[in-house]
Amino acid sequence: MTVVTCIEDLRRLHQQRVPKMFYDYAEAGSWTEATFRRNAEAFAEILLRQRVAVDISRRSIAARMLGEQWRMPVGIAPTGLAGMQHADGEILGAQAAENFGVPFVLSTMSICSLEDVAARTRKPFWFQLYVMRDRAFIEALIERAKKAGCSALVLTLDLQVIGQRHKDVKNNMTAPPKLTLPNLINMATKPRWCLGMLQTPRRSFGNVVGHAKGVENLTSLSAWSAEQLDPTLSWDDVAWVKSKWGGKLILKGIMDSEDAKAALDSGADAVVVSNHGGRQLDGAPASLDVLPQIVQAVDGQMEVYLDGGIRSGQDVLKALASGADGTFIGKAFLNGLGAMGEAGVTRALEIIAQELDLTMAFCGHTDINKVDSNIFWRRD
Ligand code: GLV
Repeated sequence: MTVVTCIEDLRRLHQQRVPKMFYDYAEAGSWTEATFRRNAEAFAEILLRQRVAVDISRRSIAARMLGEQWRMPVGIAPTGLAGMQHADGEILGAQAAENFGVPFVLSTMSICSLEDVAARTRKPFWFQLYVMRDRAFIEALIERAKKAGCSALVLTLDLQVIGQRHKDVKNNMTAPPKLTLPNLINMATKPRWCLGMLQTPRRSFGNVVGHAKGVENLTSLSAWSAEQLDPTLSWDDVAWVKSKWGGKLILKGIMDSEDAKAALDSGADAVVVSNHGGRQLDGAPASLDVLPQIVQAVDGQMEVYLDGGIRSGQDVLKALASGADGTFIGKAFLNGLGAMGEAGVTRALEIIAQELDLTMAFCGHTDINKVDSNIFWRRD
């Protein structure tokens, strides 16, 4: 048994243990994957200043996001089909996040429903919403999120059309997988995954199937997205969602300072600087590349979070030092989940927390809230 010491170990286990089509779905960007790679490169380009002889005996990585105190400023990003990486994946992810003390965001495109997750957690989670053509369905979904006790709504603005991920097309990815010969052969090499899936009733899009009209037999994410997502989405719709929800609202998918200003004008509580993990506009900069401009544009008037490319505590530190108030992990979460279920998600969070704490200490800091871009090494 491998001793898991880093997110890369979890990624390898994830790849070994989960059917190819779902691993490939998670570990991908759109088209050439240039933006997917850029997300990681932007972090790698930043070098850190090592400082010595500073009292680092008492340290804290606890921080506030959206008015609440968390064990570290790292939440679990909404990811589609987490319940296909591991049986009951969203329930396990939410439980791991709750026990660890970080926010969990449930995707509209989850396998476990809002109600499933609410019934199996004690603390409120956050819900991610896509605006679909069927507004009655959206209204009902917002009501369901309220009933489930969700404490924030994360409205995603960057997926009204879907970026092509070549592997999903080639793998003919569906949830649940079609029982074709190549799929059966591949699944035969993933006995843990199969056993888990046989033992759970949750194998399709739990928030949608049986709730949205005309999607009783939903299996294909891309076909569903093309049919359901509303390409007319505008700032008026954001206002409409805000009025229906009435609670804390986060806008996700902001990559431009003009859009950040519009988000501020909309009265949202926070934005997530995000290029959707490099899965949408291929050719866009890294989330980290645009973060400083967006922080400057909103000028402290709303919280700014970042996702995209975070695979370590060092990456979290670099995002925070670049001005983010919080960060989210998507792929790193799925690596933990696919590798070892709830224990794997907990391990991913522990790894990131430890790396964050020690890296902060090496930079001569003891309070994560006081770290700024002075920790960046500059040649001149
Ligand atoms: C959905 O959000 C996806 O990126 O596949």
